[in-house]
Amino acid sequence: MKFFVDTADVAAIAELNDLGMVDGVTTNPSLILKSGRDIIEVTKEICSIVSGPVSAEVVALTADEMIAEGRKLAAIAPNIAVKVPLTWDGLKTCKVLSGEGFMVNVTLCFSTNQALLAAKAGATFISPFVGRLDDINLDGMELIADIRQVYDNYDFETQILAASIRSANHASQCALIGADVMTAPPSVIKAMANHILTDKGLDQFMKDWAKTGQKII
Ligand code: G3P
Repeated sequence: MKFFVDTADVAAIAELNDLGMVDGVTTNPSLILKSGRDIIEVTKEICSIVSGPVSAEVVALTADEMIAEGRKLAAIAPNIAVKVPLTWDGLKTCKVLSGEGFMVNVTLCFSTNQALLAAKAGATFISPFVGRLDDINLDGMELIADIRQVYDNYDFETQILAASIRSANHASQCALIGADVMTAPPSVIKAMANHILTDKGLDQFMKDWAKTGQKII
């Protein structure tokens, strides 16, 4: 499973990238707001660090305007994936931009039918939002599994990019189901390293080591 980092925080991306944990990056208008940076500048900087797909989201609501914005965003770097919302106009935009050879990430997906339409429109990535379905007492992971089955039934090449990943548990479930990609905030990726028994075991080793009175360096 590929790891995308869901942030526009350049320092956090660089830290994870140095560890080989970054196969791509996803941003959205809320994350651009959080960064406090200009969308073009920060996206260009991210693309200079990360060689994999970097999603940059359009903000227009009509297809013609989305297409124009998408072309402008795609001009930032060759590894831009234009992110469009899963609306009818977003699907039109997906069809046009993917036909022009650009990567397209169709976002705000909450149903199998939406994922099916995105694949038909030539999406490179479909982004089902797991955490936001869980928020309303639906099962976000069930949606990932359903889309996996539908895409496999018909050999769609659109990659399932599990988004709105809020916990290490979400990450492992996505990997078990076979999501192609998950995008998660840096804190969630770091949390995947944690285990209570690791902490407990290390604590015991440190206590015993101190009793030996030895040093390695
Ligand atoms: O990639 C989409 C993601 O940023 C949404 O996450 O936690 O705001 O639902 P969240």
